[in-house]
Amino acid sequence: MNRTAVICGVGGAVPPRIVTNHELSTRLDTSDEWIRTRTGIRQRRVVEPGTSTGDLAAEAGSRAMKQAGMASADMVVVATTTPDRPCPATAPTVATRMGLVDTPAFDVAAVCSGFIYALQVATGTIAAGMAESAVVIGAESFTTILDPEDRTTVAVFGDGAGALALRAGDRSEDGAVLAFDTGSDGSLRDLITVPAGGAEQRATGKAPAPGDSFFRMQGQPVFGQAVRRMADTSRKVLAATGWEVDDVDRFVGHQANRRIIEAVAERLGVRPDRAVSNIDQVGNTAAASIPLAMADGAAAGLLAPGDRVLLAAFGGGATWGATTLTWPRLPAL
Ligand code: COA
Repeated sequence: MNRTAVICGVGGAVPPRIVTNHELSTRLDTSDEWIRTRTGIRQRRVVEPGTSTGDLAAEAGSRAMKQAGMASADMVVVATTTPDRPCPATAPTVATRMGLVDTPAFDVAAVCSGFIYALQVATGTIAAGMAESAVVIGAESFTTILDPEDRTTVAVFGDGAGALALRAGDRSEDGAVLAFDTGSDGSLRDLITVPAGGAEQRATGKAPAPGDSFFRMQGQPVFGQAVRRMADTSRKVLAATGWEVDDVDRFVGHQANRRIIEAVAERLGVRPDRAVSNIDQVGNTAAASIPLAMADGAAAGLLAPGDRVLLAAFGGGATWGATTLTWPRLPAL
């Protein structure tokens, strides 16, 4: 089957407020030096009151559609960990705000792997002939679920959105989305979690324990899992595509921590200079991280038409996934 999704637009959006490591160090027991050397992050973008995930998603999605010259889409998928409301999903509002009428729209929740999962759903739907086009968005206001006193997570996460516009096309075209590998292991759910606010806690009939409504992460085991799973899923998707490691021109890994990206590249044997990264500027934006890195990488001229690109992510759940694609020739905006 040669029909697949082909990328025809990319867009990114970040809130204007920049929070530097130095600013964090004025209110938390941390330092610019610690954050830079342990994570590679220099600053992150943070939403201010009145802005949320849907705003960032609609902005990134509209940019991708504009670049693609698309006036309509057959599907909108928003990957997010921080929906505007627990109910309904964020995607229908985003679709309406992008000017799309009566368009199927839904959220995908796979935390930092969410964009890969959402891209897989949209690509599969297009490949099966059930849609001719789609907009796939990763968007987060991740800082809204952080414990402001938790220096480990506050140092790592930021807010933003990224999007791809897709149309039906052929696997031989530049921009074709080629293969996927995804997986999960629910026994690891406590590594990355917001314990309260869901049915499990509410069904107890008791108020949440203090702090349980905040995001919690066990940094060290997550680090180890992320490196192992991202390397394994990358190898599987390369084999499914028929590419050797040396065929990869660009590696866009989930921007979790610069040391994780470097360790995955080293395990795989991908040259470090092939990694596309914006983590120093935006931190870890969870489901937004891969499409935002692609949007920033494209704007910086780091992704050229025909480049063979590998995407890989690890996230809460635990979930993981990898994708191969070729980079399209996109009109300048
Ligand atoms: N500033 C200063 N010190 C900090 C700190 C901060 N922002 N955050 C943690 N520390 C301290 C810890 O308290 C600990 O102190 P102790 O030795 O006195 O107990 C010390 O630094 C080392 O902590 P550790 O957790 O071992 O640090 P680390 O090198 O593992 O880095 C993370 C912490 C969170 C940056 C790292 O584990 C990480 O990136 N994990 C994965 C994050 C991720 O990818 N999440 C999303 C996946 S989807």
